[in-house]
Amino acid sequence: MRAVDIIIKKRDGGELNREEIQFFVKGFAEDTIPDYQAASFAMAVFFNGMTPRETADLTYAMTETGDLIDLHGVVDIAVDKHSTGGVGDKTTLVVAPVVSACGLPVGKMSGRGLGFVGGTWDKMESIPGYRLDLTTEEFLNQLKDIGLVLTGQTADLAPADGKLYALRDVTGTVKSIPLIASSVMSKKLAAGAQAIVLDVKCGLGGLVETIGEARKLATLLVSIAHQADRKAIALLSDMNQPLGIAVGNALELREAIDILHGRGPGDFREHCIVVASQLLVLGGIVKDSDEARSVIQKALESGKAWQRFRDLVIAQGGDVTYIDHPEKLPLADYSEDIDAKSVGFIKKIDARVVGETVVFLGGGRAKKGDPIDHGVGILVHKNVGDRVENGETIFTVYANQEEKLVQARTHLLGAVELSDSVVDPLPLFYGMVQ
Ligand code: URA
Repeated sequence: MRAVDIIIKKRDGGELNREEIQFFVKGFAEDTIPDYQAASFAMAVFFNGMTPRETADLTYAMTETGDLIDLHGVVDIAVDKHSTGGVGDKTTLVVAPVVSACGLPVGKMSGRGLGFVGGTWDKMESIPGYRLDLTTEEFLNQLKDIGLVLTGQTADLAPADGKLYALRDVTGTVKSIPLIASSVMSKKLAAGAQAIVLDVKCGLGGLVETIGEARKLATLLVSIAHQADRKAIALLSDMNQPLGIAVGNALELREAIDILHGRGPGDFREHCIVVASQLLVLGGIVKDSDEARSVIQKALESGKAWQRFRDLVIAQGGDVTYIDHPEKLPLADYSEDIDAKSVGFIKKIDARVVGETVVFLGGGRAKKGDPIDHGVGILVHKNVGDRVENGETIFTVYANQEEKLVQARTHLLGAVELSDSVVDPLPLFYGMVQ
């Protein structure tokens, strides 16, 4: 077999068989197929797509290039969640301890943020000492001991995906539904959880913008999981406007801590409750989402979920005084409110522009390996549908370079559209695929 023939077949709209896909992925992982051929392959898939069967084969081939974590014998069932990425999406920081406190072990590996999309890794790194580099043995021991792990994605998990994703990032081939689905699921399958809730973000700040694309991606993700004998459902959630109030690493961690203490924005709290409910139902420890909701409320109100988060931080070496006293967490030196320039109803708060502004402030990376400023970010005080008065604050910006405040203001004012007539609020969710 030759890599070039596989590329040509896909370029001309052909359907690849399993052997061809395995040959290509293995060769790429082992460096016998060079980057330029893999980039060309990715572009051929970008334009010509893949059938669900090809996508599943690509997923398994990438999973098999690295370690496979086996949770059998460690816990009866462990669950995992995955978001396709969004702006202000700190759901994992709340859902993981809540679900674990409800009695269902959560073992999760998260990635760093890239571009305007944040990553759980960077948010947890705001806590001094917190380790995101657990070994597989440490992962398994901690899952058994406290029922909760939140660590960084290791390079040994689906390494072919790590390589391919880096190439896609610089060759304009990220936004391909089969490539996204195989990338996400190759890592999820390798990480071992038996039940997975996928949060497919849809809108201006998501990887896919339309509900149709989100449904297509969700359907693929779920079917790949089912074919690998994992339970899975996917939620389609809004990512036109940022989720919750805080965008930026330590600011988001503070908001997650607020929710774990029973405070914080209602829409973000509701989002977390829905995701956590689906995990509890899928994990089989409640009969339906009504029962899940009441168990979750108890875990939050009793302080059990918060306690579990503390246990997690302690287990992974973090300085717990930073979450007990979140005012110790990094916060940028300069801040400025950005106010409405007229009266009206908010029609749009472009999540992507908000995310890009956080990157501009230093809170995200323009390219892999860039350093992160954990203390910068934006508070978004309004939602689509809210009425604002002239002069009312819409955003608060936190920056470590005073001169960046001016440009951030211009970006953010451009992210907002007002309407004279009443605007409906955006839904949190558009549906579910199971
Ligand atoms: N997240 C991933 O892990 N892979 C993609 O392709 C896109 C988002």
